[in-house]
Amino acid sequence: MKSSTAFLAAVLPSVAFGLISDKMKAKGKLYWGSALDPNTIAITQIANIAATGDFGCFTPENSGKWDATEPARGQFNFTGFDALVSFATSHGKLVRGHTLVWHSQLPAWVSAIGDAATLTSVIQNHVSTVMGRHKGQILAWDVVNEVFNDDGTFRNSVFFNLLGENFIDIAFKAARQADPNAKLFINDFNLDGPGKKIDAMVALIGRLKSRGVPIDGVGTQSHLILGQVGGVAGSIQRLATTGLQVAITELDVRIPKPVTAATLQQQQTDFNTVTKACLAVPQCVGITSWGVSDKTSWVDSTFPTFDSPLLFDDNFQKKPAYTGVDSALN
Ligand SMILES: *[C@@H]1O[C@H](CO)[C@@H](O)[C@H](O)[C@H]1NC(C)=O
Repeated sequence: MKSSTAFLAAVLPSVAFGLISDKMKAKGKLYWGSALDPNTIAITQIANIAATGDFGCFTPENSGKWDATEPARGQFNFTGFDALVSFATSHGKLVRGHTLVWHSQLPAWVSAIGDAATLTSVIQNHVSTVMGRHKGQILAWDVVNEVFNDDGTFRNSVFFNLLGENFIDIAFKAARQADPNAKLFINDFNLDGPGKKIDAMVALIGRLKSRGVPIDGVGTQSHLILGQVGGVAGSIQRLATTGLQVAITELDVRIPKPVTAATLQQQQTDFNTVTKACLAVPQCVGITSWGVSDKTSWVDSTFPTFDSPLLFDDNFQKKPAYTGVDSALN
């Protein structure tokens, strides 16, 4: 009588066992992840998928942002962030913290600060309190987010306007003190091909390192458009030349409406290409998709002429895009 193992090997020769985060780990990466938060955990189908081996790391989609965590000066609210961390840790998943110093979803009281000394102490207190909350439990933090304009100049923000580039040093130094075990990332979008923005990012990282600023990683958000992913592999290689870890932090591939079988097929190819781009670079530690299901993606409200950017559809079923990831990992 054949052993059951031999039987399985005979009938399922091409099946690799495991789900996509498990397969990422088998390839030496740390996770395939997703954005998640209490509002999406509350959807049973999403919570069930999130609990499987398809997802090994969660990023709070909104609950870790400044407007959620410190809506008034010195008054912290961790209701949402605590729930996200609790879901992740109770299911044995990692957490990427997101995000400490960002010009958007920033309360008006911060933007209204008018002097450098006050802003410095406000940044330091925010970073130490938010990172201290789950000290030792967070894999990585996006310490600063979206500091550049697309032309590579620094974005106007209360942070840059009062402190210049030094706001980044202040934030990273406070972050290292707050949780020495967390990997500290700078994160941005439109780093998906050659140009002034990625040039500026690589140059900034060089300056930070030469000043001894504690930085461990660079995140490329990768909010991509269907059929426009050809630059990703080169960008990951370029970011890796900094010597830092690289992570794809907010991946989605949005499809122009109306979505068709052909465009879903193109999306499968695009997700396959992006997954392979991370696999090809040892410093690329993982990929986070910006949500589990198309049902709750930010794309619906932010880019109304686009749709269906993720791996699971509105009915929580795997899409061709999932197969694109899976086949890159087999
Ligand atoms: C804290 O945040 C939660 C949302 O996560 C909100 O429901 C609650 O009202 C907030 N608490 C206070 C005191 O503002």
